Amino acid sequence: MTPATWPIIASDATATVAALHRACFAPGWSDAAVGALLAGTGTIALLAGAEPAAAPVGFALFRSIGEEAEVLALGVAPEARRQRIAAALLIELCGRAARLGARRVVLEVAATNAAALALYRRHGFTIIGVRCGYFARFVPPVDGLTMARSLEVTRRASDLDPGACPG
Ligand SMILES: CC(C)(COP(=O)(O)OP(=O)(O)OC[C@H]1O[C@@H](n2cnc3c(N)ncnc32)[C@H](O)[C@@H]1OP(=O)(O)O)[C@@H](O)C(=O)NCCC(=O)NCCS
Repeated sequence: MTPATWPIIASDATATVAALHRACFAPGWSDAAVGALLAGTGTIALLAGAEPAAAPVGFALFRSIGEEAEVLALGVAPEARRQRIAAALLIELCGRAARLGARRVVLEVAATNAAALALYRRHGFTIIGVRCGYFARFVPPVDGLTMARSLEVTRRASDLDPGACPG
């Protein structure tokens, strides 16, 4: 079945997003850290399950302000990977960002994160910058790649009114 995503409104999502973040990253974020992000202007959490109404196994946190949206974090629990759940989250994220007025989405990914790089490339992101040693939690530090994707096509598609066609 196609993975399902659904948006969660602010504080309801905090504990779930934080638990999923800790399952995906080391060190993971605390509930308080996720709560602080969700309290910020323009920050939205998306959760995804393998099918509608299933328990969430993936999350995305993004901030959309003005013409730019930024992916703050995205992850899928290890046991649920390779089921296109991250892909569903990314598609939903880009659609929502476009509807909120963003013209592009940016993110930072570790240069050694082959899975994430493949995911983002597959979804139209390209590398626009390198931040040497950006991920200082690794030993030795790992470079950060800044990636971006234009939302112009997504924006135009969401502007289309299917009801405008005769018949
Ligand atoms: C990166 C991550 C989010 C991918 O989640 P996922 O649900 O397994 O990814 P999907 O099944 O949606 O994969 C979509 C596409 O991404 C690419 N991809 C995903 N995982 C991959 C892997 N391990 N190796 C190579 N390509 C991969 C493929 O192109 C895939 O398309 P395909 O299934 O048609 O081959 C997941 O591995 C994860 O949570 N990793 C830890 C957290 C992380 O690194 N987050 C991103 C930080 S920027």
